[in-house]
Amino acid sequence: MTVQDTSVSIGATRLKSPLICGAGEHLMYAEGVRLALAAGAAVVIPKSANESQAAKRQLDSTDYALLDSNWRRLPWAYAPPPDASLLCRSGLAQQPFDEWLDMLRVLDREAARRDAYVAASLILADLDRCVEMAQAVEQAGLRILELNIGAPHGNEAARGAIVLERDTTRVREIVARVRAAVRLPIWVKLTGQSEDVAGLAQAAKEAGADAVTIMGRFMAFVPDVETLSPMLGTNAGFGGSWALPLTCRWLVQCRRRLGPDFPLIGTNGARTGLDIARFLLSGASAVQVSSAVFTGGVAVVSSMLNEFSGYLDRKGLTATALIGQAADRLGTYQEQVSRPDYWKTFVPTEALPSS
Ligand SMILES: Cc1cc2nc3c(=O)[nH]c(=O)nc-3n(C[C@H](O)[C@H](O)[C@H](O)COP(=O)(O)O)c2cc1C
Repeated sequence: MTVQDTSVSIGATRLKSPLICGAGEHLMYAEGVRLALAAGAAVVIPKSANESQAAKRQLDSTDYALLDSNWRRLPWAYAPPPDASLLCRSGLAQQPFDEWLDMLRVLDREAARRDAYVAASLILADLDRCVEMAQAVEQAGLRILELNIGAPHGNEAARGAIVLERDTTRVREIVARVRAAVRLPIWVKLTGQSEDVAGLAQAAKEAGADAVTIMGRFMAFVPDVETLSPMLGTNAGFGGSWALPLTCRWLVQCRRRLGPDFPLIGTNGARTGLDIARFLLSGASAVQVSSAVFTGGVAVVSSMLNEFSGYLDRKGLTATALIGQAADRLGTYQEQVSRPDYWKTFVPTEALPSS
């Protein structure tokens, strides 16, 4: 059997596979990043940074709960069921910026020896400081910059600690400022908490982004029926495998709006190797996986890659050939072959008991 090519491209950047380890607590330090690289990730994005002390302090009040589909808390073990949802608060990297950057610089050199990348992720707080940090990232020799302007905790965090941008004009302004300051590829990570994610993506593209990452997790409120209180005590970021179809729909919308050649990166809901295929079929060129690795350990990276390459071999397709296939077959309600009277199957045939 021919082994199919798993490589993809994000603009001029070739990745050995579409699997990107998205930022999270498990990638706070060099040890976790090295494990993810060794497991075969094409890109690893260590925990994001910014200049805000409040964002750093927020890390000290983080909390995490794994929930089953009946909203019951699951034990935190390294093998959660694939449909477990993760409810959590999160904060940003606490190392001083220079220390964080130095760690990334060393790790990206190591990554290059594995035909991989370590990308620097900045979460916007103050735009002037963000621009300076982006320049420092470039000067340190990092090869990819992620600019996250859609972190879900933006509205809950202390004022100014984390910017969650939903306004297209502001997205254009922010991305243009950073674009003017650096030459390295900029991947802009956008919120999913917008009625017009594709509009935000278009603004980022027009302002000079090299790719957009679609899309940040949602905020949620989960009442605990035993304590009568909010689980974790607050609103919190929420994700699970259920988010995949919602992300895929926005990937399709973005592909239609931005054109098939503009690179999209999918995030929010990928838990398995077949989920990588699902994101690619919806138009993504690569996939950021975070919760699955955070809750399941780095072994998840190799098992996802194995399942993905097994799928490519079975279908006789390269990774690149998958991109956008299902998106480009999207029909309209009007075009569907009609099934007259099918709806009647669902009408109750027995009379309801009278009260
Ligand atoms: C605990 C946790 C911490 C995260 N921290 C960051 C972060 O620092 N920077 C960032 O860009 N995204 C962060 N994310 C978002 C993830 O990178 C990812 O985009 C998101 O969780 C959706 O993908 P998933 O369904 O694979 O988790 C975090 C997610 C989780 C669950």
